[in-house]
Amino acid sequence: MRKNIVAGNWKMNNDLPQTEALIADLLKQNQTSRAEVMIAPTAVNLFQAFHNTINSNIEVVAQNMHFAENGAYTGEVSASMLKSVGINTVILGHSERRAYFNETDELLAKKVDTALKNDMRVIFCFGEELSDRKAGNEEKVVGNQIKNALFHLNASAFKNIVLAYEPVWAIGTGETASPEQAQDMHKFIRQTLNTKYSEQVSQDMSILYGGSVKPANAKEIFGKPDVDGGLIGGAALNAEDFYAIINAF
Ligand code: 13P
Repeated sequence: MRKNIVAGNWKMNNDLPQTEALIADLLKQNQTSRAEVMIAPTAVNLFQAFHNTINSNIEVVAQNMHFAENGAYTGEVSASMLKSVGINTVILGHSERRAYFNETDELLAKKVDTALKNDMRVIFCFGEELSDRKAGNEEKVVGNQIKNALFHLNASAFKNIVLAYEPVWAIGTGETASPEQAQDMHKFIRQTLNTKYSEQVSQDMSILYGGSVKPANAKEIFGKPDVDGGLIGGAALNAEDFYAIINAF
């Protein structure tokens, strides 16, 4: 059975005191659903965030990492550095990394390999631009993003991968994909995995939706059969809103 997961991507928000205050607020909330809960603070606060959540069911995850094991990559963070501060999951391929930091499918394939080699779990993000959707190319674009970055892997590697479909036009815009649009794409993603790998791989894969998920729309989106959770941006910065979304399952 695949898992339900709700992950909060804090992006470049919250300094150390704000990180500790938000975690304290999160720990006061009541979880009524069985979804796995993750938060992704900025790299510099991962160490503290891990310690502040140690006796909770909140997993602290990273927003990014480099593909190299170590070396002359000024400003970058490696898998072993993350693991050494208690982080076992990393978000890779977020559209903001692709758009502002030129991360390509080829680069992301290398990052995925490094994360898996280091026994980390990957939340792999992808999604089409508005122009792709207007041209009716959304499935082609998403299919290629998945194939190019992941289809060199063996079926067994997918146990450590979570997929996150985030249509770029719905991120931070207040415009959400309709529950039907999300369901259609998630179904297509599952079919793509089924065709390349197996029914088992496709049925076991958790596929999260991201893009303007809010307490008001979470229930309807999570109610779709192929939507297994959410990757939440803005609404994850408020503890009550984040837990309202988690409890929408
Ligand atoms: P918003 O929820 O702010 O639209 O962000 C979604 C996102 O990019 C999560 O990774």
